[in-house]
Amino acid sequence: MIISSATDFREAARRKLPPFLFHYLDGGAGAEQTLRSNVDDLQSIKLRQRVLRGAEQLDLGVELFGERYAMPIALAPIGLAGMYARRGEVQAVRAACHRNIPFIQSTVSVCPLSEVAAQASHPIWFQLYVLKDRAFMRDVMRRAWELGSTTLVFTVDMPVPGARYRDAHAGMSGPNAPLRRMVQAMLHPRWAWDVGVFGRPHDLGNISAYRGSATGLADYIGWLGENFDPGIAWQDLEWIRDEWKGKLVIKGILDPDDARDALAFGADGIVVSNHGGRQLDGALSTAQALPIIAEAVKGKMTIFADGGVRTGTDVFRMLALGADGVLIGRAFVYALATAGQAGVERLLAIMEKDLRTNMVLTGVKSVREIGPHLLAR
Ligand code: GLV
Repeated sequence: MIISSATDFREAARRKLPPFLFHYLDGGAGAEQTLRSNVDDLQSIKLRQRVLRGAEQLDLGVELFGERYAMPIALAPIGLAGMYARRGEVQAVRAACHRNIPFIQSTVSVCPLSEVAAQASHPIWFQLYVLKDRAFMRDVMRRAWELGSTTLVFTVDMPVPGARYRDAHAGMSGPNAPLRRMVQAMLHPRWAWDVGVFGRPHDLGNISAYRGSATGLADYIGWLGENFDPGIAWQDLEWIRDEWKGKLVIKGILDPDDARDALAFGADGIVVSNHGGRQLDGALSTAQALPIIAEAVKGKMTIFADGGVRTGTDVFRMLALGADGVLIGRAFVYALATAGQAGVERLLAIMEKDLRTNMVLTGVKSVREIGPHLLAR
């Protein structure tokens, strides 16, 4: 199959993966309205075509928290990425380091931080949820720090897991789920061989390291449900802000008042996100929310955005709407599932080329020049 875009990677991943994994990645909450609007609203953003502005030497580089990166794209934290390719987080971090962009490791990764950090040539960013088990949070923050992570990405839009209806249908949860997953694996031998057999252990590496005993997929679902803390409020994060010596990014902001609160709290950055449409179905798309948030806090903290980003043009659009950097989630995991590290590198190369093309066609020489003046109204 010919692969020239994230859409092609999605189709390739759909063919290769057992359905429970494909739909867990691809799906969202409820009727998936927000999931769809993330993509549709972003794609509907129109840009100004400018000509004869001499955009030949292009600078895609950005500085984020004192580090230089090759382009304003980061790999988003994705739970269970290691189920999508053999030791998936390791392959993804290698791709990110090779292309010199940030890699954000999920708390609920398959590979533990130590395994991933050992393969990374620059410090990884670490994502943490607000959990009931504060001792686990402390332990994993300490590990992340000792392994060289200086940026902590705190996810705050998952005090309860969203209603993911696809999961029950696809066998991620629901009746006879383990049996159904086993049958699906047998029917997808390329995945079963590569990941099912050689990608072991299928553990939640960070949680096993803390507990001192193995965990599995069943623990993942149970753990997500049991350990999220709906009682959480800003005050409960103060100890984290006070203990964490590095940069702190709050992920899951969709409202300008929350963005102001994050700023007042002392966050160094935010991720404008609705968790890829996986939480509140009916929430604004990020393309809708971002300009309002940028108006409130732009220049006062680093603004990242995610949701619906599939192409370099989408990255450009997010920057034009006010982001300083963009996270890609599903898009990179489709590529990871299809072809591992090489797939992710290929996707990043495609997105970079796209971004360059757009810079020429809109007449900008540096990604730092991309802003609302390039939106066609
Ligand atoms: C976890 O963060 C998920 O969205 O499933």
